[in-house]
Amino acid sequence: MDRYLVFGHPVRHSKSPFIHTLFARQTQQELEYGLAEPAVDEFAQALRTFFDQGGKGCNVTVPFKEQAFTLVDRLSPRAKRAGAVNTIKLTDDGVLLGDNTDGAGLVADLKSHGVTLADSRILLLGAGGAARGALAPLLAELPSELVIANRTHAKAQQLAAEFCDLGHVTAQTHEQLAGSFDLAINSTSASLQGELPPLAPTLIHTDIAIYDMMYGASDTAFISWAKQHGARQTMDGLGMLVEQAAEAFTVWRGIRPGTKQVLRELKRNLGVI
Ligand code: ATR
Repeated sequence: MDRYLVFGHPVRHSKSPFIHTLFARQTQQELEYGLAEPAVDEFAQALRTFFDQGGKGCNVTVPFKEQAFTLVDRLSPRAKRAGAVNTIKLTDDGVLLGDNTDGAGLVADLKSHGVTLADSRILLLGAGGAARGALAPLLAELPSELVIANRTHAKAQQLAAEFCDLGHVTAQTHEQLAGSFDLAINSTSASLQGELPPLAPTLIHTDIAIYDMMYGASDTAFISWAKQHGARQTMDGLGMLVEQAAEAFTVWRGIRPGTKQVLRELKRNLGVI
């Protein structure tokens, strides 16, 4: 049977096996999907061993995405732009192809929530790996402006300079942020510590859509805060998780699974509904 898995550390709580098993059942594909948690300095060897032993493809998550970028034979254009790989496929001619489906997953999830990206004014909070992965797919939707704000401003400036060939993208300090944004996306890892990016509450209004790439059984700190300040539409990263997985499944199997039912089952599994 074709074998797939996700590499991460820690990876025990990954939902990827659950999601991909449901995708396989739905599309009647014969495959198995497992977990691998190599020591941080043993990822390269573990990846080689997996493919030497007949593995067909894998996902890569924290902290291995940047290392995976350096280990594959060929990169997709979107992986090259992201500087990180979250999906690897062994092609029929034996080439390890590195791809990145995170940004596509974010955009697909935003669209499934009815968020319009074309001509919109987007605020992207954070300038780490998650922000980098999201930028090209967001800019491909032709927003009127995309502003990056990050605790360490220099990193936002660097990202804006790197992606300015793809659209109207600028970096601003939190103090400089002004005007009305249609969408604010939190790509920082602040929610992991229950913290908030230092955003002024005046930026939240009833027509802004709020997206947090993090998720949990209850609202993230950022989503709770945005709701308190009047945001009507809030979304967490669970949909992005399922959509990036659907995109990876499509890369591997050439067939696109439906995501709605799988997302519902995942929410039930997490106790969210
Ligand atoms: P990831 O791959 O998840 O993006 P990362 O590359 O380590 O992880 O980036 C983490 C991002 O979250 C950075 O933008 C970081 O801000 P700095 O560049 O200033 O470090 C941001 N971040 C983490 N904790 C934060 C907090 N408590 N408040 C605001 N921003 C935070």
